[in-house]
Amino acid sequence: MAASLIDGKVIAADLRARVAVEVARMKRDHGLTPGLAVVLIGNDPASEVYVRNKHKQTQAAGMASFEHMLPADVAQADVLALIAELNANPAVHGILVQLPLPKGLDTEAVIAAIDPAKDVDGLHPHNAGRLAGGLPALSPCTPLGCIILTKSVHASLEGMDAIVIGRSNLVGRPLVQLLLNENATVTIAHSRSRDLPDLCRRADLVYAAVGRAEMVRGDWLKPGATVIDVGITRVPAAEGKTRLIGDVAFNEAMQVAGAVTPVPGGVGQMTVACLLVNTLRAACAIRG
Ligand code: GUN
Repeated sequence: MAASLIDGKVIAADLRARVAVEVARMKRDHGLTPGLAVVLIGNDPASEVYVRNKHKQTQAAGMASFEHMLPADVAQADVLALIAELNANPAVHGILVQLPLPKGLDTEAVIAAIDPAKDVDGLHPHNAGRLAGGLPALSPCTPLGCIILTKSVHASLEGMDAIVIGRSNLVGRPLVQLLLNENATVTIAHSRSRDLPDLCRRADLVYAAVGRAEMVRGDWLKPGATVIDVGITRVPAAEGKTRLIGDVAFNEAMQVAGAVTPVPGGVGQMTVACLLVNTLRAACAIRG
């Protein structure tokens, strides 16, 4: 039997609608409008698309959206000065610096300069450390989205065998921590892991976040597994166009798995929705 599709579009739209209701309530009851500042440095076309999308969805949720565009050759000191300004601005509750940064900028120093209470990306060492310690923290948006998508299939992840393929700071590592918080049994695999197909076949939950198009094949999957595909690779398509494909061979997975996220229309939709959730959380925490 073919797997069911996990519809990220519908789940993200529902989440955004719930955020919008809370934002309206905060405005009405507390006179407070949550605000998100996004900093884009340079002119990477993919990042420009993401930032435009964030701006639109932040405004649609009723939040204030502040965009700061800096040239690729901006000095590190000027970036840090902007972040200090945003840290001090009471209208800004969340700060996101779009990654990757252009060469010449120190990514770690830029992230460390963000006030942890406004770190809606969950990348500041303070928040990463709290998450690793099982404490409440602002957590990275894509892994949060992966957990919400999984919970649309399984009400509880307790005792389930999960594999996370990829160990990036943005996705793999925080996702492991979030899965542990859900009481899943977690394997983290990466480019040096031995016999990845075999590790994968043992998992009830498969998270593919390596950035290698269609690496995870249908015969790597346990029948009935839930597959969350975080990969997005742009490849050439017919008539000079391009299309997006994930880290999972989608048609093969649909023959074996129980539920699969499509690319596009899966995890990607959730990242911005979770950013709005984190901004709302940050605004609530500041209000006290
Ligand atoms: N670039 C791609 N994804 C992300 C993200 O989740 N946060 C930031 N800051 N940059 C990104």
